[in-house]
Amino acid sequence: MNMSENMPGNTKHELQEAIRSINSTLGKCEKAITKLKPGTSSHTLTKRRIEAFNIAVSLIERELRNEYTAENPVDELKLRLFYDGDIPLMERWLYAPHVAAWYKHPDHWLRELRERRGEFSFLSHYIVEYEEKAVGFCQYYDCFHSRLHEVWNDEWKVGDKQGEVFSIDYLIGETEYLRRGLGKRIVAELMGKLRAIGAIRCIVSLEPDNIASRRVLEANGFTMRNGDYVLNIAESTKTKQVKSGG
Ligand SMILES: CC(C)(COP(=O)(O)OP(=O)(O)OC[C@H]1O[C@@H](n2cnc3c(N)ncnc32)[C@H](O)[C@@H]1OP(=O)(O)O)[C@@H](O)C(=O)NCCC(=O)NCCS
Repeated sequence: MNMSENMPGNTKHELQEAIRSINSTLGKCEKAITKLKPGTSSHTLTKRRIEAFNIAVSLIERELRNEYTAENPVDELKLRLFYDGDIPLMERWLYAPHVAAWYKHPDHWLRELRERRGEFSFLSHYIVEYEEKAVGFCQYYDCFHSRLHEVWNDEWKVGDKQGEVFSIDYLIGETEYLRRGLGKRIVAELMGKLRAIGAIRCIVSLEPDNIASRRVLEANGFTMRNGDYVLNIAESTKTKQVKSGG
C-alpha cells in the first residue's frame, strides 16, 4: 500500500512528526497498562490502542522507507555464490543468442557448474544480482589449475605457482540489463576479489570481434598483450572506480 496515495499532501516531515507523536502516546499507554488489571475493559481498550499505534508506526515507517528508496535508487550490484537452483537460469542465459554467440559450448559450461564441488572446484562461480534481481553470471579461476582443462601456450599466462595468474568469464543474461554499465562493474568487482586474494595478473582471451567485452576490459585498465587482455592487478590498485552508465 502506498500511503501517500491515501493521504495526499503528507510530507516526509509530517510523517516523522506523526511517528514522534504516536510514539509518545504509545509510551504513555505502555506505562498505563502495567497499572491496569487484565480482563477489565480499560485494560482491553489500552491493549487494543497499543496494537493500533504499533501498526500505525510500522506503516508510517514503511512509507518513509519507500520515500527514501525513491529518492535514493538502490543501484546495487552484488556477486553472490552460485546455487544448484541457478542452473536452469544459467541454461536459459547460455542459449540466449547474445550469449551463445560467444559461449560456444553451453553443455561444457553447465557441466562445470554441476561439477563445481568436484573436478571444477578451482573455479569461483557467482550470480550477478542487480537491485536484487539475478541478471548475469561471472567466475574467476586460477590458471595454474585450469591448464589441466585448457591449453595455455605461454608460461607467463599460467604462472609458476598457484595464486598468481587468474582468468575471468562474465555474461549478462537478461537482455534488458545490457549496455547499462553493468559489464564494467562486474569486472571491477571481480578484480576487487582477485586483489583481495593477492593475485598478480589477470588474463582474458576473447574473440577480437567481441567489442562489448573488449570495452569492458579496457574500461577496467586491461591492455592487449600477444592477443590477450592483461591486467597487472597489483599495479592497478589506483585505477578509477567503474560506475554504471559510462
Ligand atoms: C560483454 C558484456 C558482459 C558487456 O556488458 P554490458 O553491461 O552490456 O557492457 P557495458 O554497458 O558495461 O558497456 C561497456 C562498453 O561496451 C560498449 N558496448 C556494450 N555493448 C556493446 C555492443 N553490443 N557493441 C558495441 N559496444 C558495446 C558500451 O557502449 C561501453 O562502451 P564505453 O566504455 O565506450 O562506454 C555483455 O555484452 C554480455 O553479456 N555479452 C555476452 C557474453 C560475453 O560476450 N561475455 C564475455 C565473454 S569474453
